[in-house]
Amino acid sequence: MKEKLEKMKEQVKQKVEEIKDLQALNDLRVKILGKKGELTEILRGMKDLSPEERPVVGNLVNRVRDELEVLLEQAEKELQQKELERKLNEEKIDITLPSSKIIRGSKHPINRTIEQIQDLFVSMGYDVVDGPELETDEFCFERLNLPKGHPARDMQDSFYITPEYLLRTQTSSVQARTMLANTEKTPIRMICTGKTYRREDDATHSHQFNQVEGLVIDKKERNVSLADLKGTLEVFVKEMLGDNLSLRFRPSYFPFTEPSYEVDVTCFKCGGKGCSLCKQTGWIEILGAGMVHPNVLEMNGYDPKQYGGFAFGTGIDRLAMFKYGITDMRYLYTNDVRFLKQFDRMD
Ligand code: PHE
Repeated sequence: MKEKLEKMKEQVKQKVEEIKDLQALNDLRVKILGKKGELTEILRGMKDLSPEERPVVGNLVNRVRDELEVLLEQAEKELQQKELERKLNEEKIDITLPSSKIIRGSKHPINRTIEQIQDLFVSMGYDVVDGPELETDEFCFERLNLPKGHPARDMQDSFYITPEYLLRTQTSSVQARTMLANTEKTPIRMICTGKTYRREDDATHSHQFNQVEGLVIDKKERNVSLADLKGTLEVFVKEMLGDNLSLRFRPSYFPFTEPSYEVDVTCFKCGGKGCSLCKQTGWIEILGAGMVHPNVLEMNGYDPKQYGGFAFGTGIDRLAMFKYGITDMRYLYTNDVRFLKQFDRMD
């Protein structure tokens, strides 16, 4: 019996040395120490021994089992360590590899321009108001002194949804809304930026574009004058496009202002000498403006004998194009990342 045990011990030792993975080691453990294992088998044979032999052999078996357990445990630890080292070697991280780039977004040039306009006018005491893009004929035209059938309606090709509803062609609709909402007739100083829609589509026009509207109304004795309008627009245009520009007020026609003006600015590309951008005129048309028409005041709840003011409107997309030197308006809407990326961190 003793010899048998010693022999088994030697065999196990040998096998353990040969074993290279944890699974095989575990199999060996089961084979020797498991319920149906060899050592258990030997223990079972003890019942055939004489009572004197039993404690001696029992002792021996226990010792051998302890030894084997220690041996197997040690072998397991070694294998685990080896396995860990192998993994670490295999999974080496190459820190010299370039990492995948984090793509940063950037503010769209139109939003940048809108924010700049809003900041400027807020600093001059204006409110920023909002109005619906789906507008009624009443607010978009009628309350702005453009009754149905008025020829000036042809100035703006509209998207009508129903005979009464259309996509607003101008933010001027918000003029009427603001006046009508101000039942207390407190002074109005507001701007409204937002999307507008017209049926056109070429390099300088898009069927959807953005406008900013400005409206100032106060009591007659406060004397809101053309000079105020001129001064305000000068501050506005210089802030947007540069200090060394001049403005020119050209008489024009809008149904909701009287007198009406189109405001030109000296061409910022050629400085006024004449180039392709200004079509050799040295000037670029940039704004529509004028003193609020008495009919508009009257229609929207203001007595034109007691109140007066000015209004102006301009296309934000065009401003953004001039500001950033963008040559085709459609770039603003196709959202090509290569285009947008150029405005990263720009002011
Ligand atoms: N709404 C006019 C346009 O879209 C611009 C404008 C606004 C003119 C306010 C005068 C006063 O062309």
